[in-house]
Amino acid sequence: MFLGATLAGGAAFLAGGSDVIFGAHASPSPTMATNPTWKLGGDLIVNRLGFGAMRITGEGIWGWPTDRNNALKILRRAVELGVNLIDTADSYGPETSELLIAEALHPYPAGLVIATKGGLTRPGPGQWVPNGRSEYLKRCVEGSLKRLRLERIDLYQLHTIDPKVPTEESLGALKEMQNAGKIRHLGLSNVSTAEIERARKIVPIMSVQNRYNIEDRESEKVLVYCEKENLGFLPWFPIGGGNGLPAENALKTAARDHGMSAIQIALAWLLERSPVMLPIPGTSSIAHLKENVAAAKIKLTSAEWKAIDALAGQG
Ligand SMILES: NC(=O)c1ccc[n+]([C@@H]2O[C@H](COP(=O)([O-])OP(=O)(O)OC[C@H]3O[C@@H](n4cnc5c(N)ncnc54)[C@H](OP(=O)(O)O)[C@@H]3O)[C@@H](O)[C@H]2O)c1
Repeated sequence: MFLGATLAGGAAFLAGGSDVIFGAHASPSPTMATNPTWKLGGDLIVNRLGFGAMRITGEGIWGWPTDRNNALKILRRAVELGVNLIDTADSYGPETSELLIAEALHPYPAGLVIATKGGLTRPGPGQWVPNGRSEYLKRCVEGSLKRLRLERIDLYQLHTIDPKVPTEESLGALKEMQNAGKIRHLGLSNVSTAEIERARKIVPIMSVQNRYNIEDRESEKVLVYCEKENLGFLPWFPIGGGNGLPAENALKTAARDHGMSAIQIALAWLLERSPVMLPIPGTSSIAHLKENVAAAKIKLTSAEWKAIDALAGQG
């Protein structure tokens, strides 16, 4: 009954259709069956498979996409498929990812969580330069609110710690914005456990976003910390950028046995890795989006999961 209620709760948000993440077909997997959703910050219920909106911008994460209608369609389709956690940043485009989200989805459906970030400037395509100064970050928050047409941002993540600025200054500014009612929850990105601990002395932190996938476990300790402390963990580069994961191995075997792609198996592996795991795969393709969403229904056997787990660091 509990499972039924949880699945129904997840599905209530959805527009319907057979591809939806948490449809009537429940996965018997321990983590996805008992934890198909995550309470971000203790109050925002999100389906654990989210969408990363970095790839809907132009080449080099710069400017508008060549096919703007396609980007709008992807965002709308993601929500129709049951995604209710969309990750973005003011630096994607810059600005264009947030503007496209608002154009596609505003007024937002109830329960849609948009997680944005600030703290990286964009001098040009492919270039990312930190700025963690207080005044700059406050302007970032105001800019994101305007572009996303929101009064409050559900999850605002400091994109990176600026080595030239004390964390107390950067997070102090975001704390002020939170106290002013402009931010609901705060998260961090690209951080070590020591940096998370330092940050938590300044302000409550609800999530961490670091690079993580089957092959790249540099952030394993951070993930374990998040599990222990009940913080959401948003792995970026969750499928290794689409072609970075090894194919001739346990992934491929599981993919063949399940009639799925290796990328879908990689996402299923992540979802089963931890109940705090909130993958945000990015795509500019509707077909890939559907594939990625369908991965939430895959149930790996424990032998399959372990064989894939053993691939860490082999690539
Ligand atoms: N915090 C940070 O510093 C940081 C850094 C990078 C990214 N992020 C966030 O994390 C999200 C995900 O990261 P990411 O986009 O770098 O990496 P990713 O999700 O691992 O990979 C995206 C790439 O994989 C391809 N792809 C997606 N689904 C596929 C499928 N089913 N089959 C084949 N190829 C597929 C996409 O190409 P197609 O477009 O052709 O599908 C795209 O090139 C971003 O959107 C962003 O929100 C955060």
